[in-house]
Amino acid sequence: MDLYEYQARDLFEKYEVPVLAGIVADTPEEAKAAAEKIGGVVVVKAQVKTGGRGKAGGVKVAKTPEEAYEAAKAILGLDIKGHVVKRVMIAQGARIAKEFYFSVLLDRANRSYLSLCSVEGGMEIEVLAVEKPEALARIEVNPLRGIDKEKAVEIATAANFPAELIEKVSDVFVKLYNVYKGEDATLVEVNPLVLTEEGDVIALDGKVTLDDNASEVRHPEHELLEDKDAADPLEAKAKAAGLNYVKLDGEVGIIGNGAGLVMSTLDVVAYAGENHGGVKPANFLDIGGGASATIMAAGLDVILGDEQVKSVFVNVFGGITSCVAVAEGIVKALEMLGDTASKPLVVRLDGNQVEEGRAILAAANHPLVTLAAGMDEGADKAAALANA
Ligand SMILES: Nc1ncnc2c1ncn2[C@@H]1O[C@H](COP(=O)(O)OP(=O)(O)OP(=O)(O)O)[C@@H](O)[C@H]1O
Ligand SMILES: [Mg+2]
Repeated sequence: MDLYEYQARDLFEKYEVPVLAGIVADTPEEAKAAAEKIGGVVVVKAQVKTGGRGKAGGVKVAKTPEEAYEAAKAILGLDIKGHVVKRVMIAQGARIAKEFYFSVLLDRANRSYLSLCSVEGGMEIEVLAVEKPEALARIEVNPLRGIDKEKAVEIATAANFPAELIEKVSDVFVKLYNVYKGEDATLVEVNPLVLTEEGDVIALDGKVTLDDNASEVRHPEHELLEDKDAADPLEAKAKAAGLNYVKLDGEVGIIGNGAGLVMSTLDVVAYAGENHGGVKPANFLDIGGGASATIMAAGLDVILGDEQVKSVFVNVFGGITSCVAVAEGIVKALEMLGDTASKPLVVRLDGNQVEEGRAILAAANHPLVTLAAGMDEGADKAAALANA
């Protein structure tokens, strides 16, 4: 889960990373009140989960509360790379002497952590990495050791920080690593980390990605950081039902068991769709091993709730859960859903007890269900139905 800047700021504060005052506002009036509370020059910042806010007009300096009102009015509702701004943060203004860059992240390819650091912060780090790779230090961080003071000094030195700043910035690096480790993050990025005219080192911006695998058991409190309004309603419904569901853009709903089978079903349906008006898979849904009627009904319910869906392809390989159980599950699920089930279903069963499973579906003779002998045939039928 990616966090908003204001949430990152709050986490930083909890770990004693130096930050400036920041208050969120959802209206220009609230922005004005926040600016009055903070006092002096403030910066009004769009809260969206994408980069390049400044360039898109989403970061504005305001010298008075009235200016903060106007800035918030201009920023709220702005579309930044497809993200509409619903909230701004009013941040205390800093007098910036220099801008730096620091991040620590999970380096999957090397099964390790990696810290990136530069004395040339502020600009987009992707651009810096391409145009001036020598200005970006890349230091591997051993996950067992983390970033202690000594490691932090190594990072600051590699990034060419001037000697008189190394002590100060390395303290901040250690604290930022504490955020990374303490919150089970996969990314903590500060751009810019600034040196102020007063000589303080402060995190002026923050991007944090939390590891969702850690949230349920290790960090139940992370649920509070979730942006329930922004989440796709179908995905939220699937999550509540404990389903592994990802919404996609197409018209053919997909249900399968096992992530690998579902992924290849997406490919086969996309391929078949080329012959049927370019229809595409509408979702990823893995109902896992025990394809009970309840799970099947929950899955169908989510998929049929997607208005874009025109047909559904159920592609199940019976293993420990036999095709009999799956077929019974489908029949019962259709009963449970009643009139909600209104779109054609193509079912391909294979594996353990396939003949018996098919016989159950044939006997049920449900008007919406078509049987397919193989995966390609099923994908083709489902795509044709979606295009009909
Ligand atoms: N509190 C602040 N006081 C003074 N200047 C600020 C403040 N916050 C941001 N700025 C200035 O605005 C620039 C852009 O801000 P910020 O880094 O938060 O957004 P961004 O880089 O455009 O967005 P993103 O990091 O999402 O790409 C900073 O580099 C800094 O110069
Ligand atoms: Mg930034």
